[in-house]
Amino acid sequence: MSTLDVRTDLWDAPAPPRPTATAFDYDVAIVGLGYVGLPTALAYHAGGSRVIALDASSRRLRTIAARGADLIDSDRERLDTALRSPAAFRLTSDVTELSRAAAVVVCVPTPVDARQVPDLTALRAACATVVAAARPGQLVMLTSTTYVGCTRDLVERPLRERGMEVGVDVFVAFSAERIDPGNVGFAQEVVPRVVGGATAECEERGARLLARYADRVHRVSSLATAEMTKLLENTFRAVNIALANEFADICGALDVPVTEVIEAASTKPYGFMAFYPGPGVGGHCIPCDPHYLLWQLKALHVDAGVITEAMTRIAARPRRVVERIRDVLGRAGKGTLGARVLVVGVTYKPDVADLRESPALEIIDLLADLGAEVQYVDTHAPHIHLVSGRERDSLADPGAFHPDVVLVHTRHHDSDLGWLDADTVVVDGTYRSADIAGRVLL
Ligand SMILES: NC(=O)c1ccc[n+]([C@@H]2O[C@H](COP(=O)([O-])OP(=O)(O)OC[C@H]3O[C@@H](n4cnc5c(N)ncnc54)[C@H](O)[C@@H]3O)[C@@H](O)[C@H]2O)c1
Repeated sequence: MSTLDVRTDLWDAPAPPRPTATAFDYDVAIVGLGYVGLPTALAYHAGGSRVIALDASSRRLRTIAARGADLIDSDRERLDTALRSPAAFRLTSDVTELSRAAAVVVCVPTPVDARQVPDLTALRAACATVVAAARPGQLVMLTSTTYVGCTRDLVERPLRERGMEVGVDVFVAFSAERIDPGNVGFAQEVVPRVVGGATAECEERGARLLARYADRVHRVSSLATAEMTKLLENTFRAVNIALANEFADICGALDVPVTEVIEAASTKPYGFMAFYPGPGVGGHCIPCDPHYLLWQLKALHVDAGVITEAMTRIAARPRRVVERIRDVLGRAGKGTLGARVLVVGVTYKPDVADLRESPALEIIDLLADLGAEVQYVDTHAPHIHLVSGRERDSLADPGAFHPDVVLVHTRHHDSDLGWLDADTVVVDGTYRSADIAGRVLL
């Protein structure tokens, strides 16, 4: 309503009563049950919360209900328990259910498109749904990694536009997820959470929600600080991985074993953190998150040369792997055309089935474009679909393929390389497969 529309006869009238929060049937609703949202929903449930677990994809819900989701063993057990108590763990795609939860946590994907521009389609859709369903007394918490100001743009402002007073009628917080899928070393409970709120009361409610399962909650002064914290964490990793890759190449040129150097440097108890080189980065975080920051900075004409260069180098890493394979083949007197290349492990990291942004997919396509006959073996990924449209199935009997060269891309803990012939040329993309005799590094 513009100022001209204000009804002066209401000026002195008593304010209408604020809508009051009636009791909620559930403590929390998780929107988006992917690699992050599902373990989060299970952590809340295991912590004693009544949970609405909501996903837009009925296929995903069927997979979860059939216990087919890619989870670490402890979460698999939690899922089993949760599915046996449907009154306290409600799997649904019905967005009208959201109004039954005291808090709504948004955990949908935030990828980038082919031009590395943030693709906010899922986040916008999820936030619009949550805002439309919001009711008095509810807390809305964004946990997807995103740009600075996103929670204000997609949640806080639209709630105000709905006529709700943020910090009084409804509450808005941001707390990025820090889960590391497939990593059994860090239970979700023990990883501290950072939270910021739109107001002090929002921060307080956000912290109380997280404390339902997290042992430690670190509060920051604003939504923007919390959003930026996550961007720093993952940009830090990206830049350091790019540096580790560069050090690997430098060590290669100077004939120094890079892994030994990193392990030696790691003995310093302060000022150093080990990052290891590899064939590139994948997954939904490192190849994507820094671009949320770069995209925002570009619009503001703010220089971020170090981050830009690191992301460029990271994106180029799979090509470097292909060059190394060509080099190794050349030394054996073979060209790439018709060469038989076997890739061991195609997921982006060990012990997950996640193929998103995996460097292996680009490497296989690049080698196939050069005329190589490329196959792979990976018990976590029985079938792959490449950007080129090519498809492959994991070889059941890799030894029978008789490769000219093997690229070790990812080693799961249960990887069995017993089929490797002692005289097969192996390029160790992990840099850490010291058990393979005669391996060459990237
Ligand atoms: N994967 C990781 O290692 C990791 C770690 C920390 C943080 N994050 C962040 O967490 C967020 C989620 O990542 P993820 O890996 O779990 O994604 P994901 O692709 O595995 O899962 C997202 C889920 O959200 C569902 N979804 C999409 N749009 C929806 C909507 N409008 N309503 C309801 N459900 C919807 C999808 O069906 C899917 O099941 C991202 O922002 C990511 O950056 C990811």
